[in-house]
Amino acid sequence: MKIQPSDTPLLEWTGDSLAIGLFEDGVELTGELANLDRQFSGVLKELIAEEEFKGKANSTIFTRVSGNSPVRKLIVVGLGKPEALKLDTLRRAAAAVARAAKKQKSKILGLSFPLWNNDPEGSAQAIAEGVELALYQDVRFKSEPEEKAPQIETVELLGFGGQEAAINRAHQIVSGVILARQLVAAPANAVTPITLAETAQAIANEHGLQLQILEREECEKLGMGAFLGVAQASDLPPKFIHLTYKPEGTPKKKLAIIGKGLTFDSGGLNIKGAGSGIETMKIDMGGAAATLGAAKAIAQLKPDSEVHFISAATENMISGHAMHPGDILTASNGKTIEVNNTDAEGRLTLADALVYADKLELDAIVDLATLTGANVIALGDDIAGLYTPDDAVASQLEKAAQTSGEKIWRMPMEEKYFEGLKSGIADMKNTGPRPGGAITAALFLKEFVKQTPWAHLDIAGPVWTDKENGYNSSGATGYGVRTLVNWVLAAGE
Ligand code: BES
Ligand code: MN
Ligand code: ZN
Repeated sequence: MKIQPSDTPLLEWTGDSLAIGLFEDGVELTGELANLDRQFSGVLKELIAEEEFKGKANSTIFTRVSGNSPVRKLIVVGLGKPEALKLDTLRRAAAAVARAAKKQKSKILGLSFPLWNNDPEGSAQAIAEGVELALYQDVRFKSEPEEKAPQIETVELLGFGGQEAAINRAHQIVSGVILARQLVAAPANAVTPITLAETAQAIANEHGLQLQILEREECEKLGMGAFLGVAQASDLPPKFIHLTYKPEGTPKKKLAIIGKGLTFDSGGLNIKGAGSGIETMKIDMGGAAATLGAAKAIAQLKPDSEVHFISAATENMISGHAMHPGDILTASNGKTIEVNNTDAEGRLTLADALVYADKLELDAIVDLATLTGANVIALGDDIAGLYTPDDAVASQLEKAAQTSGEKIWRMPMEEKYFEGLKSGIADMKNTGPRPGGAITAALFLKEFVKQTPWAHLDIAGPVWTDKENGYNSSGATGYGVRTLVNWVLAAGE
């Protein structure tokens, strides 16, 4: 599929499906749209009246256009109130249109959307992202292709002449999102610590990044007892992945992105029981997937900041070698941890990854982790929790997420709750009481960052969606990649 800008006037455009975006107060059809309606003998007006179309965001209607017309189908998508228009409204509307056009077996789709904020670049990028994200389909694990139906071949963004660069940027970013979706969607017998390291290697080779993989022995030498404690029951070797993007010249900023990389989380000896969703725990490397997806995108976008992509990848399994509940582990900063629950394993792996990144003398660290069910209880399936003591990093991430349309919400780092992690025998326990469980998880992580501004995103909810949602089809969302990319790009400004 090719997305291209076009300056063809609306009335002269020819193709299979022509989609127009209408605001809630714009369904009366004035100006060019009135002319378009006349060209189609009033069918647009009829459609709007018959369907009682009000222009509500994401409502979509369409009709067949008669006989010898230059366009086969007309699609109308609502954009909501003009004053409430966001970039993400365009992204979602473009996704809705792309899905509709695909169902109509259109090969050539034209989109006529208004600008957001008089910003043709940002608007073109968001629209292109919406189309690409919505049309991606994962057929890797099907033995036969499901559909032989014609695919959309060309999408023309009308009125966006000259926006090739923005459309190309969208494509580069989406390639990272799709990598993240593929990594998350693949089961734990396909994506392992070994294959995650291979994926990092492939990104490094293809885009010229530096890569260091620390094997178990090297992690031992660095004293990563928390990470290795989690890894010790797996038959697969742990891989500590460290991929680095360096810009030409002096970097504006030096940043790290760390992703929780549990390719499967059985819970360990505190095994996940019936109804716990154990069969979904291939998603527990969603942080690592976002990290590698961001690496792939950033390697192509070439921002002027240095970025370290880190994941302590392993599985949380059971065997005769497994951690016992109650074991005491020593992390690479010397802190001792009483493992009162082996299912709180993500924070153990992140502890050593944070200590490692903290020593790199960076300007900021962001970690992403499918860390707690408690975060899902607090914020639901669509919103990631943002936890940080640093107001500056918080507002950078909030801004980046606003642009990407990925929802985040800042949560309190209530220091008093650390009391719940106090241990009678070690420096701390790895789990506190159930109430505030996502906050104590973040407070635990904070113990492993000494000198670098740091933020943690709990993505346990949005990493996956059970049903189609905007530009995400059901399944892995690739959540985080686009926010991370925006964050890194803005850091150089
Ligand atoms: N990977 C899970 C968290 C999770 C839950 C991710 C649901 C995605 C969906 C994590 O390792 C875990 O098991 N957390 C426990 C922590 C508890 C033992 C303190 C949880 O949330 O129940
Ligand atoms: Mn767990
Ligand atoms: Zn986990």
